[in-house]
Parts: sequence; structure tokens; C-alpha cells
Amino acid sequence: MPIVEREPPKGRRESYVLPKVPVPPLKQTLDMYLTSIKHLVKEEQYQKTKSIVEKFGEPGGTGELLQEKLLEKSINTHNWVYDYWLDDMYLNQRLALPVNSNPAMVFPKQDFRDHKDSLKFAAHLITGVLEYKKHIDTRALPVDFSRGQLAGTPLCMKQYYRLFNTYRLPGLKRDTLVIHETGSTEQEHIIVACKNQFFVMDLVVKEKTLKEMDILSQLEKMVKMAENTEERQPPFGLLTSDGRTEWAQTRDVLIKDSVNRESLAVIEKCLCVVCLDDPSGMEVGDTSRALLMLHGGGHEKMGANRWYDKPMQFVVGEDGVCGTVCEHSPFEGIVLVACTEYLMKFMTGSPSKIGRATSVSELPAPRRLLWKTTPHIQGLLKASAERLQRLVRDLDMDVHKFEVYGKEFIKKQKMSPDAYIQVSLQLAFYRCNGRLVSTYESASIRRFHEGRVDNIRSATPETLAFVKAMTDEKTSLSDSEKIKRLWDAINAQTNSTIAAITGMGIDNHLLGLREISQEIHMEMPEIFTDETYVASNQFILSTSQVPTTVEMFCCYGPVVPNGYGCCYNPQADHLLFSVTSFHGSTETSSAVFIKALDEGLVEMRDLCKTSNKPQSNARMNLLTHK
Ligand code: COA
Repeated sequence: MPIVEREPPKGRRESYVLPKVPVPPLKQTLDMYLTSIKHLVKEEQYQKTKSIVEKFGEPGGTGELLQEKLLEKSINTHNWVYDYWLDDMYLNQRLALPVNSNPAMVFPKQDFRDHKDSLKFAAHLITGVLEYKKHIDTRALPVDFSRGQLAGTPLCMKQYYRLFNTYRLPGLKRDTLVIHETGSTEQEHIIVACKNQFFVMDLVVKEKTLKEMDILSQLEKMVKMAENTEERQPPFGLLTSDGRTEWAQTRDVLIKDSVNRESLAVIEKCLCVVCLDDPSGMEVGDTSRALLMLHGGGHEKMGANRWYDKPMQFVVGEDGVCGTVCEHSPFEGIVLVACTEYLMKFMTGSPSKIGRATSVSELPAPRRLLWKTTPHIQGLLKASAERLQRLVRDLDMDVHKFEVYGKEFIKKQKMSPDAYIQVSLQLAFYRCNGRLVSTYESASIRRFHEGRVDNIRSATPETLAFVKAMTDEKTSLSDSEKIKRLWDAINAQTNSTIAAITGMGIDNHLLGLREISQEIHMEMPEIFTDETYVASNQFILSTSQVPTTVEMFCCYGPVVPNGYGCCYNPQADHLLFSVTSFHGSTETSSAVFIKALDEGLVEMRDLCKTSNKPQSNARMNLLTHK
């Protein structure tokens, strides 16, 4: 049954119908799974996996039983994969949020003349947030439509309605995504962090919403209060940077005291956090700005001036380093881009109203949140600080602008820019490691009701053939063979993309089969304990396209200790890459990866120039790019 996506809001009649996420045919998923791993594991292991998969898929077997249960679930729920996916991707994960989970959006560097300038920027930003929130509350945001592959389909807007009213509550085994009712009066405040102190800014005073100049005046008072060292509170924000189980345990200790309980309750219900950062003292480049967004530079810098559980957290640094760092579970980067681009355009397009509007008279002094500590809690804070510091030291980040060409060149070759970039990432990885590995590329499934993402497994056999042609077999193969292999790789990647965005990806389906087996108390089927399945879910290369139309970029950390996180932003004449890895791994180096990527992109361009004949057989190319 299709679902009406939007309840018509009061006075408006916009609504449209979105289909449910489909359950792919079992055989199709199992075949695709075997194809996706065959070239990544040893022959002996592949044969073992193949027989496990065949047994699972045989008529009347476990696979069919579970498939039937999933189909039933898809009839009885709005979205059969949503909860499985949310738990698996986020809520069950125990690693610390900074670097490991929270992505960041880095705004253009601001040139603040003085401290007051940065506060004006923050006040203007908050005004923009309130404007945007109004659009959300009145369901007035324009509906998004898909672009690129299979363009023109309406997309699910649900994620927008979770930007400001959600909170990730730590749990001992599983976190909870708390969702407040949109427009709830409990949510009429924001939290401002300054010098590791947390202040409450009530947005409605005497039934009047604060104007921009009121917001500025409250921010100024908060800064003053934060400077008062006598009243300074311990840096409790650090606790949110810890592993999820550790933070949940600490939170259980904190809430025994009513002062802490009250402070936590206020933070957990806020609209967003605004972090007013002191200058970090670091040289301000793309990489250092990205680092400051991802982890704040640790407890000695801005790492404690954060509350990582809150999905929308804005950073305004006195030195012009600004952006957002987000708890990822309620929304994807694409929705974050739409929101932050609105804010950036608001900031540049609508002049600050400071000094023009009438203010709310007699604003109450801002409230500083208080914390009760004990020697035990002090010890926990110290431990959190040390763990954050280890993460900070370990992160190896490189933000790189590839300026030789951009997506327009790729389009001229009649190739999908996204597929092309994915192939170049595989080439870079192969160059660095002499093998391909299980790769994750997020594919939006917002064409479906409450759709989030599935995975495009980009390490295809066709790409392996291509990267070998560009490396091991470089001298023995002709250019025409190489370009043929490039086209095969691009077409395979494009077709995988189309499968994933139309709900035919295999990762969500396999996850659903696995989880439903546990729901019906079945012993875990061998297909999911098999070493191949386990390894194929270790995404050594975790990639994502996050394009922007305003000057800013997204970044995130690797998802495994020996992996890379690679977020890219294709622009008309250049490609921006944010690459992360961990110094602790001897197998990775962000700088080496970037160098290999650079070289590969140039070689791919040269190869394309040797032949201008498109050889596309990808479905989308046939349909719209003849
Ligand atoms: N010839 C010429 N042009 C082509 C082409 C071809 N063969 N194939 C595609 N193009 C064009 C498209 O029309 C599009 O044009 P536009 O720039 O005018 O819109 C452009 O190239 C980009 O298309 P493509 O590179 O194929 O990618 P896409 O936009 O379809 O994106 C995904 C592919 C997988 C990234 C996208 O579907 C998706 O899922 N995005 C969400 C990712 C996400 O969730 N990220 C955040 C995670 S937190």
C-alpha cells in the first residue's frame, strides 16, 4: 500500500504518494552477493561461501522462510528496514560519536574583525535557524526531487522533520533516538556552549520570540558569564565524546543528583547547540578546520565545548572557523546540506536585523547549567578526556581539492561523474594496497516512504579488471582495452547505483533477513556467521557523495581501524575530497591515498582523451544520455 507522505498541514494541501521500500527477490540478492565478493576473497573461501549461500537459498530452505517473514513485515509496517537499519548503523554502535559517527559540514572561513563580529554572526545564524524551523513546523519546505540518475522523482521529506527535535540518548547496549513532537513548547530554547560552559537561551520571553538583537545581547551576556572563572563548571560536554556504553554508565551516575538531572533534561530537549569557540591557535586551512569540526581538537582545545549527542550542533569560532557537527542517526548528509545551504544563503542574502527591530525589553539573565561533581565523576571526566585525546591524535585527515577537472569533463565523456569518481577511488586504493576491499557508497532510497540509504558495493569485478589494467597490466595492454575496461567498470557501477536507489540493493535486504531470523528466535543462519559475510561488512573504504551548491564541504571519519573515510563533493570544474584514516593503522595514510587518487584521476582523463566514443550500456545512459 502506498503511503501519503505528507499530512496536509493546516491551510495547505500539498501531499504526494510514495511507495514503500520493496523487498528484493531472494535469488537476485543472493546472486548479487556472490558476485560482489567472488573477486575479493580467496577461491577456497569463495567456494565455501557459495555452498552456504546455495543451501540458504534452496527451495523450502531458511532463506525462503525468512523472505516470507520479511514480505509479511513489509505489508504490516511503513518501512520494513527502517528500524533494523537504524539500530545496525547507529544505535547499536558503541564507538564514540566524534570522528567515528558524527559527520561535519565545514562552512567557508569567516573574516571576523573582532569577537563582537563572531557573536553577530552567531546571532544571525540562530535567526536563520529559527526561520528554517518555522518552515519545518508549518510543513512549508518545498519537496525535494531526485537529480542525477533517474531524476525527477519526489523524495521523502521525513528526515527534515528530525533535524531539530531529536536527541541520541546513550544506552548501555543500545542508544535511543528520542523524538520530540515537532513544534513542542518544551523545545523553545537552544543551548550555547562557551568555554566548556553550557547556557540556556530561551527563545520565547514573555510570549515574544527573541529578535536578533536580543539573541546577540544574550550571547554577549553568556560570554561574560563564561569568563567568570569563579563560577566555572567542569567540562561535562567531554562525557558525550566518550564511547556510548561508557557515556551511558556515566549518565546513570550523573542522574542520581537532581542538579545534573535537570541540566541534562534541558540539554536533551533543546533545538540545537551553538558552540562559541575560542581561537584554536591552529593554522586555519581546510584540513585543520575539518579537524576542529570533527573532534574540536581534543580537551585542550574545543573538544569539551560540544555536546555530541545533539543532532544539530553549530560551531562559530572567533577565528572564523565555523560549521556544524551532527549526530547522524536522524538524517543523512544531503538533508544537512539543504538546511545549511539555506542558512548560508540566509546569512549572505538577508541583512542582519541588529539595531533595527524592537527588542524584547528586560531580558532575563541567561541561565548557566550547573553540574554536581564528585571525585568519582572527576575521574570519569578525566578518562573521557584521555580517550578523546587518543582519537584526536589518531585521526589522519587530508582535505584535497583536485583542480585538473571537475564533473563537467566527466559528463562530456558521457559517463556518470559519481561512477567515475568511485572507480577512481578504487584505483587509488588498489595502487596503495594491491587489492580491492569491501566498499560502502551511500545510495539514497528517499524515493520510498521513510527511505534512508542502502549501499552501493563499488568494488565490482569490472572495476578490479580496470584497475589492474592501469597498474599491474599497464604496459601489456593497449589503450583501447583499457578504455573498454573503464567503460565496463563505469557501467557496472552505474547499474549498481540504479539498483540501490530503486530499492534493489543487497545490504539492507541481507540485514533484514538476518534480523528477522533473530526476531523469530532462529539460530543465526550460517550465511551470516560466515567469515565472508563478516568481512564484507567491514567497510575498509567508506565513501559518500555530498555535493554542495554553496562553498562548504562535508567530512567524516573511517568506520574501521584500518579503513578510509572518503567524502567527495563534485563541482563543475574541480572535485573536493575529504579523506580520513587512522595513524594507528600501518595499512593507511590519507596523504598517500590522496596522491594515488590525484595520479589516477589524471591518468583516467588521459585515457578518456585517447577515445571519445562512449561505450555505455548502463541503463541510465541508454535512457537519458544518448
Ligand atoms: N552522461 C552525461 N551526464 C551524466 C551521465 C552520463 N552518462 N550520467 C549522469 N550524468 C549527469 C547527471 O544527469 C547529473 O547531472 P546534473 O549535475 O545536471 O544533475 C550528474 O551527471 C550527476 O549524476 P551522477 O554522477 O550519475 O550521480 P547522481 O547525482 O545520480 O548521484 C548517488 C549518485 C549515488 C550519489 C545518488 O543517487 C545518491 O544516492 N546520493 C545520496 C548520497 C548520500 O546519501 N550522501 C550522504 C550520506 S550521509
